Amino acid sequence: MKNFTSFADAGDYKALLQQALEIKANPYGYQHVGRNKTVGLIFFNPSLRTRLSSVKAAYNLGAQAWVLNAGADSWTLEMADGAVMNGGTQEHIKDAIAVMSQYCDVLGVRTFPTLKDREADYSEEVFRKIMQYATVPIISLESATLHPLQSFADLLTVAETKRKERVKVVLTWAPHVRALPQCVPNSFCDWFSEIDWVDFVITHPEGYELDPKFTKGARIEYDQQKALEGADYVQAKNWSSYQQYGQVLQNDPAWMLTPEHMALTDGAKFLHCLPVRRNVEVSDAVLDAPGSLIIQEAGNRTISMQTVLHEMLK
Ligand code: CP
Repeated sequence: MKNFTSFADAGDYKALLQQALEIKANPYGYQHVGRNKTVGLIFFNPSLRTRLSSVKAAYNLGAQAWVLNAGADSWTLEMADGAVMNGGTQEHIKDAIAVMSQYCDVLGVRTFPTLKDREADYSEEVFRKIMQYATVPIISLESATLHPLQSFADLLTVAETKRKERVKVVLTWAPHVRALPQCVPNSFCDWFSEIDWVDFVITHPEGYELDPKFTKGARIEYDQQKALEGADYVQAKNWSSYQQYGQVLQNDPAWMLTPEHMALTDGAKFLHCLPVRRNVEVSDAVLDAPGSLIIQEAGNRTISMQTVLHEMLK
């Protein structure tokens, strides 16, 4: 595995999933793979799970890890090619990434979208620049459009808990107080639309359609209640509009997931990537119910990262 930025980079997802299950069963059994290796992690945006699970994954694999909060811990970075750097920026991204590549064997990068310039965000302008300047493999810790480590952890969580050969998985839009990126739902679609034992359904209010490049022809159902009928897994997430880029078009609280919504399902397990706005996106009663997998799902973030690192370092 050269880089890990999307479902396509996973290659044979069944083999990768099997490897993840084996690593989960024996998390310290692969320490020879990471010996004398260093994992670099650069964050342009905040994180709890991605940051901590990535460090833990490196340690489990016998590797060392360093973390840089770009801008806060480092010089202020210049992103523009050919810039005359006589303003506030102190180091060009070209030099910073090339130098960081000297200090690690794999580099994880988090760069959120602007939510202002769709073309720049959806062309992964910043992430592509980093990949261009890096001389080591790159792992997406969430880019402008995708969050593959999260989706891989979600897939692992479903795979290890499913009670049927085929399962219905529903991705539902949820209300929020702010405009959020489309990375998590894009990525969930990128992965779950490809899984041959999943019947995948997306539900959201009109105007919240995701980029068809990621939904890949999956069923879209505008009636949330209809979509939830018979579901085995429900993943809730807010996102802002892709078409009216970055805008909040409506925030109908009826879309907040409650036990009444879950009663329409076939005893569905509940998923959310976290962080979650309790009682805005999802009610406490759903988040704290026995069928909620949110903590197991967050725990699996270590396994998804460890599996990807294993593939890159082995
Ligand atoms: N789910 C997720 O990526 O969490 P963080 O933003 O806290 O890393």
